[in-house]
Amino acid sequence: MSANVSTLLYLVASVCFIQALKGLSHPKTARLGNVFGMAGMAIAILTTGILILQSGSSAIGFGFPLVIVGLLAGGAVGALLAARVEMTKMPELVAAMHSLIGLAAVCIAFAIVSDPAAFGILTVDREIPYGNRVELALGSLVGAVTFSGSVIAFGKLSGRYKFRLFQGAPIQYKGQHWLNLLLLLAILACGATFVWTQHWSTFLVLSLAAFVLGVLIIIPIGGADMPVVVSMLNSYSGWAAAGIGFSLNNPMLIVAGSLVGSSGAILSYIMCRAMNRSFFNVLLGGLGGASAVTAGSSQGANRSVKQGSADDAAFMLQNAESVIIVPGYGLAVARAQHALKELTEKLAGKGVAVKYAIHPVAGRMPGHMNVLLAEAEVPYEQVHEMEDINPDFGQTDVVLVLGANDVVNPAAKTDPGSPIAGMPILDAYKSRSIIVNKRSMAAGYAGLDNELFYLDKTMMIFGDAKKVVEELVKAVD
Ligand code: TAP
Repeated sequence: MSANVSTLLYLVASVCFIQALKGLSHPKTARLGNVFGMAGMAIAILTTGILILQSGSSAIGFGFPLVIVGLLAGGAVGALLAARVEMTKMPELVAAMHSLIGLAAVCIAFAIVSDPAAFGILTVDREIPYGNRVELALGSLVGAVTFSGSVIAFGKLSGRYKFRLFQGAPIQYKGQHWLNLLLLLAILACGATFVWTQHWSTFLVLSLAAFVLGVLIIIPIGGADMPVVVSMLNSYSGWAAAGIGFSLNNPMLIVAGSLVGSSGAILSYIMCRAMNRSFFNVLLGGLGGASAVTAGSSQGANRSVKQGSADDAAFMLQNAESVIIVPGYGLAVARAQHALKELTEKLAGKGVAVKYAIHPVAGRMPGHMNVLLAEAEVPYEQVHEMEDINPDFGQTDVVLVLGANDVVNPAAKTDPGSPIAGMPILDAYKSRSIIVNKRSMAAGYAGLDNELFYLDKTMMIFGDAKKVVEELVKAVD
């Protein structure tokens, strides 16, 4: 394959990636976007494989069969994980994938520094050119931060491990930001020394310190702010790949890495705005999290709430003129979206105006609720984003909150000391009456009690969302 043909194929793959991003921006075109993404990746891998084959296995220090074994093993593990993962576990899978990209960037940087001749980047004086040293230092720095930061994010998101670093509650201590800044300055000093001297030891110290920095910038971030962290690490992983693309002189890696890096940065910015967080704070690590509350705590266990049955709720819903449904993580866990669509249709048949209200971080990944409702083929016109629907709550008869908690917690507005203070919420508390379905009085992801549940106009229906919605459908019948 000539250089022109490989460049052309890389260009085609890049266009596919851009089309993939465009397609993924709307539920209707998301499938096509995925197809573009897969096609682009297949073209990129095949082209790179052919280039490796042409260059002769010895040129890069390992045999082509090893590349095939790596591709098959990695592809098989990836396919298996993707097929088995539950929708609600996607964010942890994404965090795990980001960590692998970061680790790959560090490994490649180490391989190049240890044997630059194998990658054909030595000067006549048998030195690594200065430009490449800068790329290697940056690639390893960003890759190491991405790796260790993503491992901590994975632990926090999964909530399965008892290890303190993996708990949802933020870990904060005095002088935290100063320590992080000092470490960053030390890393930059090591980087400058490496660029100047090409000493192995400085490169090693730089990478080790970057691993520590990745841990330190993620541990002060509390559970509710994890969506922003995941998109930020997504961005970092892209920049790490792009940095290594420069060192390997591979235009495909540079383009794909930059696309991931910039789209991740834009997503982080959008998420920061949606959650009223400072973009700069996210980049430096440590967002809100004024007080640490253990996820799953139920401070409200001894307070009384008004409790009702599905029949009571069905009566209220049928007699309302307007109803807003607020779906949350619990709806996804219960997989109640199909029953919910049936309920909505029955209410609409009785002349009730029903809308869905979507919070940007409801569930466990961006767009989680949109995907869920699209799966049940809920018409897009009924689905409204937070800014559009918030003014409607005040004039709404009934709000039905299904498995949502943090995204309707008024503490974000009323308690400046709350870990979610300042985060915009769906203004469910403003409506005339509120029905909340969840299984118990347990806290949501941020580990906070929710005043909404104790309001006089709120009625709680305890139980699994799917069972409760099915009972509502029957009762409405
Ligand atoms: P949460 O605050 O996590 O609350 C979900 C509620 O659903 C829980 O209180 C739980 O109470 C209930 N629940 C669980 N299983 C249920 C079931 N089978 N049936 C009925 N209820 C069930 O959810 P949210 O309001 O959607 O807020 C999302 C939170 O996750 C935010 O804090 C957000 O920052 C964070 N987060 C979001 C993302 C993205 S990008 N969306 C990523 C990571 C983290 P019971 O146990 O009492 O039933």
